[in-house]
Amino acid sequence: MAATVSIAAFASGGGTNLQAIIDNCEARRIDARVVVVISDQADAGVLARARNHDIPAQHVPVGRDRSEQFFEAERRHLEILREREVDLVVMAGYMRRIGPALLAAYPNAVLNIHPALLPSFPGVHGQRDAAEYGVRVSGCTVHFADPEFDTGPIIIQAAVPVLPDDDEDSLGARILQQEHRIYSQAIQWFAEGRLKVEGRRARLEPAAEATISPEPGVIISPPLTCEL
Ligand code: GRF
Repeated sequence: MAATVSIAAFASGGGTNLQAIIDNCEARRIDARVVVVISDQADAGVLARARNHDIPAQHVPVGRDRSEQFFEAERRHLEILREREVDLVVMAGYMRRIGPALLAAYPNAVLNIHPALLPSFPGVHGQRDAAEYGVRVSGCTVHFADPEFDTGPIIIQAAVPVLPDDDEDSLGARILQQEHRIYSQAIQWFAEGRLKVEGRRARLEPAAEATISPEPGVIISPPLTCEL
């Protein structure tokens, strides 16, 4: 039996990932509950979503990266996490770096989601960069956060096809559907104590498949048109 994990969600935007996590917690599909939502943006939609579910929601301005205000915000974050007895931090569209003191206080307990198959297309435009590059498959990645952006050990990835007329929005919408699935799966593995980190590899114990294709077994479609 997994223990119920207390989650703090950090987010900057509309919060559909947060919404999926809250819904899965409330429906008991995962052994977790969101105990606080923190945003660097005063008017982030994610704060209203939290309040709709009676989840405490706080705006903490962060300032420039690694400025005095950044480190002051990190101290405030840590106070909030301790007050709420948080076990796990999930970055759900949080467009800021997580500071070193917070990472040290939560070793292997800060997760991030990225809308591309890392290490391809890191950065803030993962969907647009994949569509413009012309890759045939993209997707999303849940990984442990580290001091840099989009570089920590990978927990789970989901692949989606990139269609000929895709742009940032159409590809992004297809990816987002999978983000909503794999983030909760990663959280459930955390709750079950199944995630171990060895160097840059995150392992699932006991081992299980951690790759998702939306139509199982079918990534390349239509079938090849030559005999191979
Ligand atoms: C998601 O695509 C996430 O991967 C990225 O920012 C987006 C946030 O979407 N980091 P939402 O706020 O969860 O709807």
